[in-house]
Amino acid sequence: MAVRLIAVFVLWASASLVTAATVSPWGGRPDVGKTRVAVCSACHGLDGQATTPIYPSLAGQHETYIVDQLKNFKLGHRVNPIMLAMSQTLSDQDMHDIGAYYAAQPPHAAAASPLPSDLAAGAQLYRGGDRSRRIPACAACHGPDGRGNPASGFPLLQGQSAVYLVARLSALQQARLPPGHPRADIMPTVARQLTAADIQALADYLQQLDEPPSH
Ligand code: HEC
Ligand code: HEC
Repeated sequence: MAVRLIAVFVLWASASLVTAATVSPWGGRPDVGKTRVAVCSACHGLDGQATTPIYPSLAGQHETYIVDQLKNFKLGHRVNPIMLAMSQTLSDQDMHDIGAYYAAQPPHAAAASPLPSDLAAGAQLYRGGDRSRRIPACAACHGPDGRGNPASGFPLLQGQSAVYLVARLSALQQARLPPGHPRADIMPTVARQLTAADIQALADYLQQLDEPPSH
C-alpha cells in the first residue's frame, strides 16, 4: 500500500515538474506553439530561420516581443497585409505559445556582410551612437551583443538579415504605433536620425554579429 502511495506521489510530482518546465515565465507553452507554426514556416521556417532574407528570422526572438508585434499586426498598428491575415485568428494565448516556441530555438546564425567596408561605421554607431546627431547607442537597449531584453520588450537583433533590417528601420522612420502605446515613440525617434548609409551600416553590422564584443 505504502509503495503504491509513493508510486502515485512520484508520478504526480514528475507530472507537475513537466508542466512547470514547459510554461515560460510569460505564460507561453513551447510544445503547444510547435503545433501552431506549420503555416508560419513557409516564410519564417519551422525552426524560426527565415526561408529568404526578406522575411525576419524568429528563432531566439523574445516571446514578449513576438506577442507585442502579433498584436500590432492584428490591430493594424503595424501595417503588413500578409501579417494582418496571419494574426487575425490568433488568440493572446496562441501568440504566447508561438512566441515561447520560437524563443526557445537557437538564434539565426550570423552571415557575412555584403558590404564589409561599412562594418566599422555600423559597430561605432551601434555601440556608441553619435551625440552630435542625437543618435543614442543602440546597445543601451538592444545590448552589446544584440540579444535585446525580454522584460523590456527590446527585440533581439543579432544575426537578423540585413535585407529585413534595412526595410524595417526605414519603415520605423514613420511613426505608426498609436499614441499611448508604451513603445510608440522609441524607435521612430531613433530611426529618423539615421541616414540611408547609417541604416545600411547598422544592418550589415547586426547581420554578422554573433558573439559579445571582446572588450
Ligand atoms: C507569406 C509569408 C509569411 C507567413 C506565412 C507568415 N509571416 Fe510573419 N512576417 C512576414 C513578413 C513579410 C514580415 C515582415 C513584415 C514587416 O516588414 O512589417 C513578418 C513579420 C513577422 C513578425 C515580426 C518580426 C519582427 O522581427 O518584428 C512576427 C512576430 C511574425 N511575422 C510572426 C508570424 C507568425 C506567428 C506566423 C504564422 C501564424 C507568420 N508570421 C506567418 C511574412 C510571413
Ligand atoms: C531606448 C531604447 C532603444 C534604443 C536606444 C534603440 N532601440 Fe531599437 N527598439 C527598441 C524597441 C522598444 C523596439 C520595438 C519597437 C516596436 O515595437 O515598434 C525596437 C525595435 C528595433 C528594431 C526592429 C526589430 C525587428 O525585429 O523588427 C530594429 C531593427 C532596431 N530597434 C534597431 C535599433 C538601432 C539600429 C538602434 C540604434 C541606432 C536602436 N534600435 C536603438 C528600443 C530601442
